[in-house]
Amino acid sequence: MLNRRRFLTATTTGLAAAFTVRPSLLAQLEKAPASLPDAASFGTNEDAYWAALRKQFLIPEDEVYLNNGTVGSSPAPVLRAIFDGYNTTEKLDQHDPEDYPIWGYAAWNEFRDPLAAFVGCTRDEIALLRNATEANSYIANGVDLKAGDEVLITDQEHPGGEHPWDLRAKRYGIVVRKVTLPKPVKSAGQVLNLFSDAITPRTRVMFFSHVTTNTGVVLPAKELCALARSKGILSAVDGAHVPGMMRFNLHELGCDMYSSSPHKWLQAPKGSGFLFVRDEVIDRVWNTIATEGWDDFKIRAERFQRIGSSNVPALWGLRASIKLANDIGIDKIERRHRQLCDYILTEMMKRGVESWTSPDPAMRCAIATVNVPGLQRMDLEKSLWTNHKIRVRGGEPSKLRLSTPYYLEKKDIDRFLEKYDEYRKEKRQA
Ligand SMILES: Cc1ncc(COP(=O)(O)O)c(C=O)c1O
Repeated sequence: MLNRRRFLTATTTGLAAAFTVRPSLLAQLEKAPASLPDAASFGTNEDAYWAALRKQFLIPEDEVYLNNGTVGSSPAPVLRAIFDGYNTTEKLDQHDPEDYPIWGYAAWNEFRDPLAAFVGCTRDEIALLRNATEANSYIANGVDLKAGDEVLITDQEHPGGEHPWDLRAKRYGIVVRKVTLPKPVKSAGQVLNLFSDAITPRTRVMFFSHVTTNTGVVLPAKELCALARSKGILSAVDGAHVPGMMRFNLHELGCDMYSSSPHKWLQAPKGSGFLFVRDEVIDRVWNTIATEGWDDFKIRAERFQRIGSSNVPALWGLRASIKLANDIGIDKIERRHRQLCDYILTEMMKRGVESWTSPDPAMRCAIATVNVPGLQRMDLEKSLWTNHKIRVRGGEPSKLRLSTPYYLEKKDIDRFLEKYDEYRKEKRQA
């Protein structure tokens, strides 16, 4: 455990400029309750339970953070674990004198095991990488494709999902085709038909987001993967948003590959991502980064996490974020996500916005997206942040993406709505 006095003494000899930051972070961590709210209190007063949990987060009380879709906020138990990781590893007194492996050439099973259990696969199918972009690049660079072979994606992929394929297309002549998703997507059947109609005899890979960055729609991943499998097409899913947002299980999903960024909804440290490759497919995927072990097929997906020296304390944080989600309970978290998302969506729709969020509750979870014709979205974003410490994320020309992580309280959403209304009124009067 981090010892505050020792840490402070050590830091006083360090850079004076950094001194003001370190104690304040530690003070905030000390202020966070040492344990999570009692699970039994959830049954008596759900709102009080979530309000107590909110105290684990460093986001100031007067800030409303509706942008968890970009990155989450690592709460106290995760930050403490990261510090513990540094505290332990920076002594450089590892038991094994041949200690280099711990920095980048290790199986890291102590981190892969809890992750594999959380996402429903085996440790051998998981590689610990830094984020979904890196994992997507592994996928796009790793599968054998000839010039003219087609990859089918959607028009709502994140640049970190789409551009790895664009790079391959430009360099090696593969063809990237896009399915245009309606806004909003109305049903799973609609998506399946769009994909089914777009498949050609040259389609080799179907790549799509499980939850898209653009509108937050939850695509029918299991059915799409089954469709791909039935046609002999590889399925690769960008699941950047999914771990920690809702319950899912990779083996049940049936995908061949899956990428993710648990630093979003699992509130894991920034720079802790993973790549899943189904056991039967591992041997078909080439490494993108190559160092010792790149061609050692016995180590299964561990081969892909050989990227050189890495930030091991971030993995301590990742493990703590999984424990936190398990301690709270992923079903509770998902339910809370849905409640808050439905609340903000209903309220925004009362204000006459156009919903780009699916009307099918199964196809939305913790991201509501609306379009407000005529809205200067950057002006609204800046105004809400500068004047009211409310963080929202927009998109051109007039889209608002509203993320509703479990640590938000209803009063936070009400404050956003109030300030949004004031802004709109002001603009109408101007
Ligand atoms: C669907 C999707 N994929 C990939 C990414 C990229 O995530 P990262 O920057 O963690 O690699 C994002 C980020 O918002 C995303 O929404």
